[in-house]
Amino acid sequence: MKDNVASTVVLMLLLFLNIRLLNGESPPGKPTIFKCRSPEKETFTCWWRPGTDGGLPTNYTLTYHKEGETITHECPDYKTSGPNSCYFSKKHTSIWTIYIMTVNATNKMGSNISDPRYVDVTYIVEPDPPENLTLEVKQPEDRKPYLWIKWFPPTLVDVRSGWLTLQYEIRLKPEKAAEWETHFAGQQTQFKILSLYPGQKYLVQVHCKPDHGFWSNWSQESSIQIPSDSPLSGTSHHRLKSYSPRKISGHGRPQPAVFTKAKLIMAQE
Ligand SMILES: *[C@@H]1O[C@H](CO)[C@@H](O)[C@H](O)[C@H]1NC(C)=O
Ligand SMILES: *[C@@H]1O[C@H](CO)[C@@H](O)[C@H](O)[C@H]1NC(C)=O
Ligand SMILES: *[C@@H]1O[C@H](CO)[C@@H](O)[C@H](O)[C@H]1NC(C)=O
Ligand SMILES: *[C@@H]1O[C@H](CO)[C@@H](O)[C@H](O)[C@H]1NC(C)=O
Ligand SMILES: *[C@@H]1O[C@H](CO)[C@@H](O)[C@H](O)[C@H]1NC(C)=O
Repeated sequence: MKDNVASTVVLMLLLFLNIRLLNGESPPGKPTIFKCRSPEKETFTCWWRPGTDGGLPTNYTLTYHKEGETITHECPDYKTSGPNSCYFSKKHTSIWTIYIMTVNATNKMGSNISDPRYVDVTYIVEPDPPENLTLEVKQPEDRKPYLWIKWFPPTLVDVRSGWLTLQYEIRLKPEKAAEWETHFAGQQTQFKILSLYPGQKYLVQVHCKPDHGFWSNWSQESSIQIPSDSPLSGTSHHRLKSYSPRKISGHGRPQPAVFTKAKLIMAQE
C-alpha cells in the first residue's frame, strides 16, 4: 500500500514535469539585436528580435557601456520606438563613441543574453526620404519641354549647419515602363530631365544618403503628364503659347498636368 502511494506520487511528479516540458516551459532563447538606426546623427534606436520565450512571460533589458568606460547603463527609453526597441535621445547620444550593448531575456526558468552589438552612431545614419517632391514641365519657346524636379531634405536632418551632408538620387519612368531610369544628383536638391517621351505620364521618386550611412527609402511617387509633341498640330490658327502644369506634391494624389491656352493666335493676325 505504502509503495503504491509512493509510486503514485512519483508518477504524478513525472506527469507534472512532462506537462511542463510539453508546455515548453524553459529559459528564454537568445535575443538578437538586429538593427540600429539614426535618422539624423543626433538620436538613434536599436531593435531586437526576441528568441523563443520559453512559454513564459519574459522580460527584456538592454544594457550598454561605452568603449573605454566601465559603467554599465540600462536603456534610457523602451517606449518611444515601439516594442523590442531602445531609443537614445540627444542627451544619451554621443558621436565618436562606440556603444557596446546586449539584451538580456529573463523568465522564471532562467535568462539568456544576446551577442554584443557595437554601435558607432556616425555609421548607422539612415535618413527619412526627402520631402515635398515637386514636378514641373517647363516649355521653353521653340524647344522641347523638360521636366524640372525639386525636393527638400528630410526635415529631421540638419543640413544647414553641415552636421550631415546628403547626396540624392532620383529615378523616373513612364507609368507603364518596367525599368526605372536612375540619375545621381549630388548634393543638389533639383534636377532637370531633358529626354522625355511626349504624351507619357511619368512617375518620379527621390532618395538620399549621408556620407557614411545608408540610402533612405525612396520617397512617395509623384507623377506628371508630359505634353504631346504638338498638341494642336494641323491647325495653323492656334498656337500653344504657354504651358502651366499643375504642381504636384508628393503628399497629394497625382493629378495630370493641364494645358492653358493663354492666347489663341488667329489666322488674321
Ligand atoms: C540561449 O538560447 C540559445 C538558443 O536560442 C540556446 O541554445 C541556449 O542554450 C540558451 N542559453 C541558456 C543559458 O538558456
Ligand atoms: C540577466 O538578467 C538576470 C535577471 O536580472 C540576471 O540574473 C542575469 O545575471 C543577467 N545576465 C547577464 C549575463 O547579465
Ligand atoms: C518582469 O518585470 C516585472 C516588472 O519589473 C516584474 O514584476 C516581474 O517579476 C518580471 N518577471 C520576470 C520573469 O523576471
Ligand atoms: C513640405 O510641405 C508641407 C505642406 O505643404 C510643409 O508644411 C512643409 O514645411 C514642407 N517641407 C519642407 C521641408 O519644405
Ligand atoms: C522603408 O520602407 C520599408 C518598407 O515600406 C519599411 O518597412 C521601413 O520601415 C522603411 N524604413 C524607414 C527607415 O522608414
